[in-house]
Amino acid sequence: MLSYRHAFHAGNHADVLKHFVQIQLLDYLNQKDTAYTYIDTHSGAGVYALDGGYAAKNAEYETGIGPLWERTDLPPALADYVNLIRGLNPSGKMRYYPGSPYCADKRMREQDRLRLFELHPADSKILADNFRKVEAHAAAQGERPAARGRRVMIERGDGFLGIKKLLPPPSRRALVLIDPPYEDKQDYRKVRDTLEDALTRFPTGTYAVWYPVLQRMESRQFADKLKRLPAKEWLNVTLTVSTPGPDGFGLHSSGMFILNPPFTLEPILREVMPYLVRVLGKDSGATFVIEKGAQVTGTAASRTANGTARVPVGNARKASPTLGTGSLRLPGQAPAGTPGAAKTVPGTAKAGPGNARPGPRAPGGRPARPGGPRTPGSRRP
Ligand SMILES: C[S@@+](CC[C@H](N)C(=O)[O-])C[C@H]1O[C@@H](n2cnc3c(N)ncnc32)[C@H](O)[C@@H]1O
Repeated sequence: MLSYRHAFHAGNHADVLKHFVQIQLLDYLNQKDTAYTYIDTHSGAGVYALDGGYAAKNAEYETGIGPLWERTDLPPALADYVNLIRGLNPSGKMRYYPGSPYCADKRMREQDRLRLFELHPADSKILADNFRKVEAHAAAQGERPAARGRRVMIERGDGFLGIKKLLPPPSRRALVLIDPPYEDKQDYRKVRDTLEDALTRFPTGTYAVWYPVLQRMESRQFADKLKRLPAKEWLNVTLTVSTPGPDGFGLHSSGMFILNPPFTLEPILREVMPYLVRVLGKDSGATFVIEKGAQVTGTAASRTANGTARVPVGNARKASPTLGTGSLRLPGQAPAGTPGAAKTVPGTAKAGPGNARPGPRAPGGRPARPGGPRTPGSRRP
């Protein structure tokens, strides 16, 4: 099923969370000189025009990157993300929004490798065209030699399959971003299976998965299934911008689930997530959750401090030692899934029903994105 076009959603609150986290993960890898590989299993078109075409239809960016654009009080890590987008818009007017491949390209060094998969024929062509321009521009600026083919490889194909041949990467350092449309509920299973396979090929890689937080069962159970994968550590962060309407339509919340996250990520999220809730939140349902956990059994942690082998106990996992529940919550947050979970961090969300823009029900009864009528081929579920 290839009806999804990311251009309809470019720059929305889900992109803000995803690309902000992606940049933090790349910056951590950049701390060492050794080359690394970035694998984007679902790349999209690379760059999106906001002032026309698909992105202008629902203008989802107006409630995503839009409110951050002119802010002068951004936390430093969030400013890094917004500045990357400002770099793509030198006139100061927000005309273009970068997709994950472009964010990666801007952050990565000459020695690093980008491996990009995109299945949609039109978007894979746009992606290739965009990268030709990006590479030519970088070469003209003397930033790096035109080395496409070695540094950047774009494949029109299935990223769930393509990743297999790339792991483990030559330098044993890699970030993998998995960001499917989830229009087809099989995507949830495919992500999990892909990660399970990837962890056997390359257990120490960092894997980042974007996912929608929806009422459908596959979505509700998704993060819990990922927590049971045999990675040494995981971190799960969700951003909710409004209370779901009674009809359950629209994308109000999304998450980034990271396997083997760098230790630097959690403190950055603690600083930035309350700010995002305050600036992007539409009503008192706006909130965020940060959870993390670690594996205590199996190969990843099968030895105690003195080196004696531990007896593996199935898939048992050790939750965050700070709270003993696996959930690292910030002051003012109630546990996810409890009635208090929708409570806002005090003083952070814009209250008032006037700010809520629940997505309208579209013909055919499937969920629409907030902010406008559904366009064929334009949505995630
Ligand atoms: C959510 S978009 C990706 C957005 C991009 N990661 C970003 O952040 O800018 C999902 C993309 O995956 C593509 N796609 C769907 N199934 C795929 C598959 N099996 N392999 C590769 N790409 C796929 C879609 O055409 C769509 O462009």
